[in-house]
Amino acid sequence: MQDVHTQGTRFARAPETHLASLRALGEAVVSARLELAIVVPTFNERANIPVLLDRLAAVLTGVSYEVIVVDDDSTDRTWEAVRGVAAYQQRVRVIRRVGRRGLASACLEGMMSTAAPYIAVMDGDLQHDETILPQMLATAMKESMDFVVASRNITGASMGGFAKDRVRLSNLGLKLARLILPADVTDPMSGFFLVDRRFIDDVIYDTSGVGFKILLDLLASAKRPVRIAEVPYTFRTREAGESKLDFAVGLEYLYLLLDKMLGHLIPLRFILFALVGAVGVILHLGTLAVLYRQAHLTFMNAQVAATVVSMTFNYLLNNLVTYRDARLRGNQWIVGLLTFYLACSLGAAINLSVSAQLLANGLPWLFAGMAGLVLSSVWNYGVTSVITWRKRLVDRGRAG
Ligand code: GDD
Ligand code: MN
Repeated sequence: MQDVHTQGTRFARAPETHLASLRALGEAVVSARLELAIVVPTFNERANIPVLLDRLAAVLTGVSYEVIVVDDDSTDRTWEAVRGVAAYQQRVRVIRRVGRRGLASACLEGMMSTAAPYIAVMDGDLQHDETILPQMLATAMKESMDFVVASRNITGASMGGFAKDRVRLSNLGLKLARLILPADVTDPMSGFFLVDRRFIDDVIYDTSGVGFKILLDLLASAKRPVRIAEVPYTFRTREAGESKLDFAVGLEYLYLLLDKMLGHLIPLRFILFALVGAVGVILHLGTLAVLYRQAHLTFMNAQVAATVVSMTFNYLLNNLVTYRDARLRGNQWIVGLLTFYLACSLGAAINLSVSAQLLANGLPWLFAGMAGLVLSSVWNYGVTSVITWRKRLVDRGRAG
């Protein structure tokens, strides 16, 4: 019997020696080098995962693989069920993420946690046809592809029993995706694909990690032409559990598209902040009109009331949308509102003084007004991101 102890010490000194000693132990160890990782994002899939693991084992005979289930602290305790299996099968691992949600970010995290040279991503609800995995792996290896995408939109493939509305929605999403896609791929919305890990390491800093469309995110992050092959499959209908695709996921999709189009120019948060501000301006003018013209308040009083209304509205919407990942609640919400009032009042003062100054210096009124507006919104954004929402972001950073 080999001295396990010596082996351990050798490894501590030099990994190459460790590999050599592994080889000495017999070809079996070396040839079992990990070939494929299958990353499965889950949220409440307890009934489906054990079936999926069995099916993977049946179809991947002869492949050295591991399965990484990335579970977002499912209320049905999917993570617990997976741990039960993982305790006996070392090729199964589970990451239980706490305090976070999101399919795409879960996939990225799973991908970062494996040493396998190829990574497949598939849903945990049995809708993706696992029997094409060997073909996908073989294609990636033989043709040295960056991606092999399981497609529902090429010959031989089908949307299966996908509801008509979902097909329509999916087609709309596809049209929008073309706006940001460099590569030509028939099903960039697929949640089922295989990728060369070197590609992931290349683009990881540019991914958005928002929403459901991880493949689209990866493709749109590429800095060089991407080599893609496609394999047809039929999308199965879900038997147990339910889909997590809802309105919020739709919004996240738009967020992803915007981030990919503009994120490298202007922070997306600022764009959202400015959009909220623009709606606030309209609300301000509407309130002013009602209070001044119809309720006959003095202009000053009407103006003050309209300012409070629009600032409050802006705060609510920013807290809900722009800073949804750092949302303030309870006491923090009240403190946040007060600091927001304060910052924006100063912003308004800056706006007034700068635009008046510019006007006095002979700039046309429209430009003077716009300059004031731009300056005050940059000020409002900068100050509130540091004072109003910063603490929460920092706290979360620490927790994460
Ligand atoms: N970790 C984690 N966190 N997993 C999630 C989350 C989440 O917030 N939301 C959903 N999942 C998991 C589900 O448990 C499932 O395993 C998988 O992600 C897909 O979620 P579904 O809710 O079943 O999505 P779908 O069937 O409507 O759409 C899927 O398939 C389409 C076709 O491939 C998605 O993958 C779409 O992006 C894809 O277009
Ligand atoms: Mn599904």
